[in-house]
Amino acid sequence: MKFFVDTADTQEIADLAATGLLDGVTTNPSLIAKSGRQFLEVIAEIAKLVDGPVSAEVVASDADGMLREADKLLTLGNNITIKVPLTIDGLKACKKLSDNGTMVNVTLCFSANQALLAAKAGAAFISPFVGRHDDVGYDGMGLIDDIKTVYDNYAFNTEILVASIRHPIHVLQAAKIGADVMTAPPAVIRALFNHPLTDKGLAAFAADWAKTGQSII
Ligand code: E4P
Repeated sequence: MKFFVDTADTQEIADLAATGLLDGVTTNPSLIAKSGRQFLEVIAEIAKLVDGPVSAEVVASDADGMLREADKLLTLGNNITIKVPLTIDGLKACKKLSDNGTMVNVTLCFSANQALLAAKAGAAFISPFVGRHDDVGYDGMGLIDDIKTVYDNYAFNTEILVASIRHPIHVLQAAKIGADVMTAPPAVIRALFNHPLTDKGLAAFAADWAKTGQSII
C-alpha cells in the first residue's frame, strides 16, 4: 500500500519524507488556505520534497478552465498530478488530460458509480472520502470495498486512493481490503508507528542493558 500525506505543511512533508516511507502528497484548496501561503509556491516546493505524485487541485468549475489551470500546475514539477472534482466537467477534463499522459486524481468521490465513471475517464487515482462518508451516517469503508469489487471486475488501472482518513483503524481497514493508496493527515501517519507495548518493552530493554555496564561501540 502506498502512503500519501494529506497536507500543505512543507515541514511535515519533509519530516515524513525522511522516513523513506512517503510515496506522495495530496493537497486541496482548504489545506492551502490553512497553510496561509501562495498555492503555486507551496506546490512547487512540495514537488521538490518527494519523488512521488503530488496532487494539486484545480479550482475552475468548467472543463476548459480546469484544463487551463492544469497547464499552469504542470509547470511546477514533473511529479504533479492534477486533481479534479467528480463532476461532469471534472471528468471531461480528466479524459483529456489522461489521454495526453497526465496523471489525474479524481476527488470528492462518494459512490462506486462515480468511481466507475472516473476509471472510464482514465483517472490515475480515484479518491473516495471515507471520513466524510462516515460523518453523514454512511459506511465509508463499505464504499472502498464496493469500488475494489467493481475495479477488479473490469481490471481498471485506476488506483483506489482512500482519502479523508481520520484514524489508524481506517488505514488498517483500507489495507485489508487491498486499496492501492491511502492519504492521511501527518498525525494519523505518525500514530501508525506507535504502540504502548513497544514503548514499555523498549524502556525495559534500556533499563536491563544499563545494568550490564556494556556498550556496543
Ligand atoms: C484528499 O485528497 C483530501 O484532501 C482529504 O483526504 C480530505 O480529507 P478531510 O475530509 O479530512 O478534509
